[in-house]
Amino acid sequence: MLDTLNVNLGARSYPIHFAEDLSGEVKLQVEALGAASRRVAVVTDRNVATIQAATLQRLFGNAPSLIVPPGEESKSVAELGRVLDFLADEGLDRSGAVFAVGGGVVGDLAGFAAASYLRGVDYYQVPTTLLAMVDSSVGGKTGVNLKAGKNLAGAFHQPRGVFIATGFLKLLPPREFAAGMAEVIKSALLGDRLLFGDLERAPLAVGDLRLAWTVRVCCGLKARLVEADERELAEGGGRALLNLGHTFGHAIEQVTGYGTYLHGEAVAVGLCAAARLSLRLGLIGQAEVARVERVVGSHFLPTRLRVPLAIDALMAAMAHDKKARAGRLRFIVLEALGAAAVRRDVPPAEVEAVWREVGCA
Ligand SMILES: NC(=O)c1ccc[n+]([C@@H]2O[C@H](COP(=O)([O-])OP(=O)(O)OC[C@H]3O[C@@H](n4cnc5c(N)ncnc54)[C@H](O)[C@@H]3O)[C@@H](O)[C@H]2O)c1
Repeated sequence: MLDTLNVNLGARSYPIHFAEDLSGEVKLQVEALGAASRRVAVVTDRNVATIQAATLQRLFGNAPSLIVPPGEESKSVAELGRVLDFLADEGLDRSGAVFAVGGGVVGDLAGFAAASYLRGVDYYQVPTTLLAMVDSSVGGKTGVNLKAGKNLAGAFHQPRGVFIATGFLKLLPPREFAAGMAEVIKSALLGDRLLFGDLERAPLAVGDLRLAWTVRVCCGLKARLVEADERELAEGGGRALLNLGHTFGHAIEQVTGYGTYLHGEAVAVGLCAAARLSLRLGLIGQAEVARVERVVGSHFLPTRLRVPLAIDALMAAMAHDKKARAGRLRFIVLEALGAAAVRRDVPPAEVEAVWREVGCA
């Protein structure tokens, strides 16, 4: 029987399906849409289109597809325009459906196009990276980057279904697998100490029997947070906790230029920075910080900046973060390894001190 987890959001509820291979299920979905005279369009990136050419042909047949360049730079206003023009050129009407087949970049970009095309059409997520499987394909956050910062234009638009086929990970480059592990470690740190303990006992690798379980645990945790706080409005935590490590991480990505650090690599340094900030605020001890760094490092992820960056530039980038309100930054901090909280009262001097500790000049 198909392993399925439901994200319960009333009229916007949807299933997440899990298996090693979900070709049959995706194909059935495409055929069902076709049988209802609904047009289907596929958005993917060049790497996925090349590596998974045969699978894409099997799933989508002759459905129109748009191939975007791989990497973070495709999460741009220019590329969004290309996707929207493509949907219009292919004559999708409001009954049409978009399939986002790829990593978080394709999911965020195609999802935002689906959110805005004709004021919203359906879309389905077929994540092909670990990061997209454990995080970005679930929850309906879509968007692109602006020059001023990461994810500054976007929309909440829940997919109609998510197909998580872990078989896609077999050909994922090791560096991309590691980047996905940053979001796994994040999930463990913010809400699942058993998962953290498991990662601490032995690092997770492709082909590991624990992988399918781990992906499901992360999706379950994210689904619960999204169900409780779909639009990230809860004051005392809620969905915002998923941003653990991201205020630091987004600043690193922005200052170094997108692509220097993979998103997950920037988040990895961000997790270590968040742990150090939590120590400075007296929430956790030095031993916990060391444990976070050990788990991050054992998954081939950076715990510190690779080359020193200017603190001023990082602080300025943080001020642009869309989570900043009335000039105050919001930080997700650790109260324990497996429990996180939101803090809006962090003195800038403490943040600067943390930047120095993780390798700033
Ligand atoms: N929407 C959300 O809730 C959310 C959450 C977390 C992260 N994100 C976003 O996700 C993005 C990062 O996603 P990502 O790490 O998946 O990056 P990505 O989409 O750039 O994919 C990483 C690389 O792997 C390649 N690739 C994809 N699938 C492959 C496969 N099966 N085999 C071989 N190569 C494959 C891609 O072509 C790309 O080069 C960031 O923009 C981040 O902001 C969004």
